[in-house]
This record gives sequence, structure tokens and C-alpha cells, in this order.
Amino acid sequence: MPVSICAQGCVLSEGQKNILARAAEILLRASNNSGQELSILITSDQVIAQINERWFNRPRATNCISFPQDVSTGVIGDIVISVDTARKEAVLSGRGVSNRLIELLVHGFCHLLGHDHEKGPSFEKEQRECEKRLLKFIMKEMTMPELCVNVDHVATIRQARGGVEPDPVIAAGIVEMAGADGVVVHLREDRRHIQDRDLRLIRQVVKTRLTLEMAATEEMLTIAQDVRPDCVTLVPERREEITTEGGLDVVANRGVVEAAIRRLNDAGIPVTLFVDPEEQQIEASKEVGAQNIEIHTGRYAEAKGAEAVEREFEALVRACGLGADLGLGVHVGHGLNYSNVVRLTSIPEIEEYSIGHSIISRAVMVGLERAVRDMVALIKQGFVV
Ligand code: PXP
Repeated sequence: MPVSICAQGCVLSEGQKNILARAAEILLRASNNSGQELSILITSDQVIAQINERWFNRPRATNCISFPQDVSTGVIGDIVISVDTARKEAVLSGRGVSNRLIELLVHGFCHLLGHDHEKGPSFEKEQRECEKRLLKFIMKEMTMPELCVNVDHVATIRQARGGVEPDPVIAAGIVEMAGADGVVVHLREDRRHIQDRDLRLIRQVVKTRLTLEMAATEEMLTIAQDVRPDCVTLVPERREEITTEGGLDVVANRGVVEAAIRRLNDAGIPVTLFVDPEEQQIEASKEVGAQNIEIHTGRYAEAKGAEAVEREFEALVRACGLGADLGLGVHVGHGLNYSNVVRLTSIPEIEEYSIGHSIISRAVMVGLERAVRDMVALIKQGFVV
């Protein structure tokens, strides 16, 4: 194994390990060192302080230490990273622990390549440039998250007057032209916004990816089998709710959900389950055969005060990590806007954002194309660097 990753004195999820391993492999390849052995130790402040004392006579914690070796032996070296310090630095920079770990890995790797910023300003500049180049490389190679725009609320405005405008079908076209990766519509049982005609026309118009959000009812399953969206997201639905409140209870409805997934999969339609960031629901999603989960971000979006936001953010980090560890595609959605989405871009497991209300709201002020482009930029450029 060219890359080995070991955690000592700290907990590293399988998801984080996988991300670091992928990043390390990209680094080896980008620096023409494929095949060289690289070992990475992720540890605590206490252990890194002991290593610092033993090898450098400085008994204090640092974020990262590199031990270069002679590449002629086939071993490029060892990198030690303190996850405790990485976590503190991530809080300060607001970019998330996984991103900070990747940055430290890149920093340590540049030392293995012979850079040493401590030698003086010109060396520091050289190392910084090397780090920037390698981070860009990683960013390009690691999957970019995608934005799927929900156009329901274009139909909400139309339904307010019961007329023909604005038309969500035209909105779907604009959303695609503005760089979104997909279009989402929710056909509700009460048809309060999207109508059957909208769904059928949007199916014909959309060239990227059409996701149909729906309840797992006989009526909706029949429509999905007929219209053939590219993906279905199963959501709970209550007539009296203003919007989808809470995730699907997969644990309590295993039979119904499993049968719906089987039926949709048999029609060639992959299924996403909209679930709360709860371990049991995510594990049950895997067990009933879903391809993806969409983690409900409502509690994070509505959290008041730094402590509550932190708690809900950490719940999302854990949920996304678990979903990815289980091999599920990880999507997020609900209540996300131009402010609260930025923090989520530090969660590398997120593959897709499903956002509606905030984009349509901004579109009223600045136009739909600009509103979509702004969100695309936030999601894609906020990733890794
Ligand atoms: N994802 C799902 C499953 C939803 O039901 C909704 C709301 O329709 C969204 C995402 C989008 O939420 P928002 O409109 O708050 O961005």
C-alpha cells in the first residue's frame, strides 16, 4: 500500500480516512511520486508534543510534523498531524476539520518534497505556491458538489393568482442555463404549487437531471413510473404542513419504503431518502436499499445561537460521514441559504445540494440566472480551498 493512514490517541471516521487517503494519492501522483510509500499518522496534541520533544527538543503541540526519507528507498516519508490542533484551526478559519486536515497534509507533503518555509521569506513564498498548486489539484480531482434547484416556489407565485405566470417550466430552463446541475420539483398530493402539467413539461425540457420529490403513495409511484424522472426523493407529506417538516421515518416505515424503492429501481429510477441527521434513519436507509440519502438540514438552518448551530452542524458532519461510510450518495437540503450553506461546503462527503426557497427569493430581487449563479459559486468555490 503506497499510502497508510493510522489514527493514534484520537478518533478518525472511516469517511475522513478515505478522504485523506484519496488526497494523499493525488499528491503522490501530482508530484510524480506514484508508487512511493507515504505514511500518515493522525494523532492528538499530547502525542504530537511527545514526538516534538523526542525528535526536536520542543515539548509542545504543533499542527503537523514531516519526516522526509530518501526516495531511492521507495519511501517518501512520514507525516504526523494533530487532529486537536487541526480542529482548533478549523474553528478559527471556519473551513471545517476535514478541509484543515487536507491543508495540513499538503503542508507536510511539501516538506517531504524539500520545501522549508522556515528558511526565510523566499522559501516561504515557494512553499506557499507549491501548497496552492497541490490544493488546486486535489480540489479538481475530488468530486465537486452539485447544485439542484427546486423551482416549486415559482409555481407558488403562479398559483397565488391561479393564472399562467410565472411558469416553472421556463424557470427550469433558466436554472440549467445558469449552471445548476439539476432541477427539482415536488409534486404534492394537494397540488399546491407544482401541477401534473408542469412535471410532464419539465421532464421534456430538463437536459441535466430532474429529481422528483414525492410521497411513497400509490398515486405518486404510478406517476413516477410514467414520467420517469432521473431520480426520486421520497419525502414524508402532511397536508397541513407549510413545507416538508422533518425527514422520512424509514425505521417505522421500512416495508412501505422498501417496496417503493424496489418499484422505482425496477423502473430504472434511483431513489434518495430524505432523512433527519440520525444514525438509525441513515442505517435503515441503507438496509432498505436506497441509493442516496438527502440529509434534512432544517434543524441546522433554524438553529439559534452559536452553541445550537455548532451542535446541529456537528450532527450533519457525523450524518454525512456515516452515509458515505455506508456507501450511500450524500445530499443535503432544506432551509439552506446564501449564508448558512457556506459552512456546509467544508463537509467533503456532500455530493449534492437541493435548494429552493432562498434561490427563488433572491431571484425576485436580482433575477433567477444571477441567483443560481451566486449559489453555484458559493457551493463549488467554497470546496476544499
Ligand atoms: N429537499 C427536500 C426534500 C425538500 O422537501 C425541500 C423543500 O421542498 C427542499 C430540499 C428545499 O428546501 P428549501 O426550499 O428550504 O431550500
